Amino acid sequence: MSAQGTPVPMQAHVSRNLSGCADVPGDKSISHRALILGALSVGETRVTGLLEGEDVLDTAKAMRAMGAEVTRDDDGTWHVHGVGVGGFAEPGQVIDCGNSGTGVRLIMGAMATSPITATFTGDASLNKRPMARVTDPLALFGAQTVGRSGGRLPMTIMGAADPVPVRYTVPVPSAQVKSAVLLAGLNAPGQTVVIEQEATRDHTERMLAGFGAEITTEITEEGRVITLTGQPELRPQTITVPRDPSSAAFPVCAALITEGSDVLVPSIGLNPTRAGLFTTLREMGADLTYENEREEGGEPVADLRARFSPDMHGIEVPPERAASMIDEYPVLAVVAACATGATVMRGVKELRVKESDRIDAMATGLRACGVEVEEGEDWWIVHGRGAGGVPGGATCASHLDHRIAMSFLVLGLAAQKPVSVDDGSPIATSFPIFEPLMAALGADIRRG
Ligand code: S3P
Repeated sequence: MSAQGTPVPMQAHVSRNLSGCADVPGDKSISHRALILGALSVGETRVTGLLEGEDVLDTAKAMRAMGAEVTRDDDGTWHVHGVGVGGFAEPGQVIDCGNSGTGVRLIMGAMATSPITATFTGDASLNKRPMARVTDPLALFGAQTVGRSGGRLPMTIMGAADPVPVRYTVPVPSAQVKSAVLLAGLNAPGQTVVIEQEATRDHTERMLAGFGAEITTEITEEGRVITLTGQPELRPQTITVPRDPSSAAFPVCAALITEGSDVLVPSIGLNPTRAGLFTTLREMGADLTYENEREEGGEPVADLRARFSPDMHGIEVPPERAASMIDEYPVLAVVAACATGATVMRGVKELRVKESDRIDAMATGLRACGVEVEEGEDWWIVHGRGAGGVPGGATCASHLDHRIAMSFLVLGLAAQKPVSVDDGSPIATSFPIFEPLMAALGADIRRG
């Protein structure tokens, strides 16, 4: 289901002493991939810890529509009986991916080299987002696409009956594009090569290897050269989805800016392609420690402990770190507003084509809350007002963007006057337990 129903206004009031343990849900990126690769393998994949947010549930529905059997036990274990590489059935209905760019782009890639036709749509946010970044490389495999002007959804893809393998350099740092090409390469003969100049999250590569595909990554002068041998028989897996660092960001940042707080966020994946926010916060002077560092399912994991940090200062975030924290800039901007000095964020053009234009959405809301923000096409600067210095008192538009809604609610916990969002319903796409989890820590977040 997409976040298109009745808006849910929400309001965050100044809070103190957030404390306790925040068990955030499973990783969204890994959850999508577990369902899609499960559907492309032969036999039963079992998944525990799957994120049961709307985005992922939409992907589960799409996999069913393409012939996989996807079920959930009462204990929360998911079972995917796959159809095998090249085995997708033609869906009888339009595939609605709701709010999820990851869902639609990965599924388009996965079906583009099978001789089936599928039509994709989404909610008002997704239907504005650029799809040519995916359909351009899929055309090289032989897939054909008809969509709305500007390469927007709704869009129909006719998969290639005789796909050819592709060598493709990803023109923007995007794990979704990289993953769409790799998933298409699964049903092409020979070797598909994807080259990325900047490292983006590598969950697809890791998981493909886990399912038994032949895939290698070489670091060369061209960048990261990923080579996949097509038409493997993928072997079903048992997958434990780690907890999402992008969701952990909200209770962590809330604790850092809210007076008297001390919060533990256990078992968070610290894959270097995802953990840029935590490095940045520590450089800003955050009291954020990694406890019980360990490996789980081949991923580095730690319990994060975040305490109120009144002395944080702005920094220049290295642009080369952008891909590893691309979803975390909105909540970083909130922390920056509560720090002293300027936080400079460059090389972040991609923020303009997320669920919303995230630079514009955050800059507008922060200014309404009394924070000075400067912006250009691919950069922005937040001028911090120091701990307790943000006036607040505004209603901010969430633009159907879960991370914008959660970021402003976090700001309201530490602002002088309450901060409201016009619509908190998109939070259910990625973090359905956000409200009870934050309430259990002592955050005063209300509906209405
Ligand atoms: C994702 C990749 C990123 C990220 C998104 C999830 C993924 O998007 O913003 O939330 O799971 O591959 P881009 O690949 O477009 O940068």
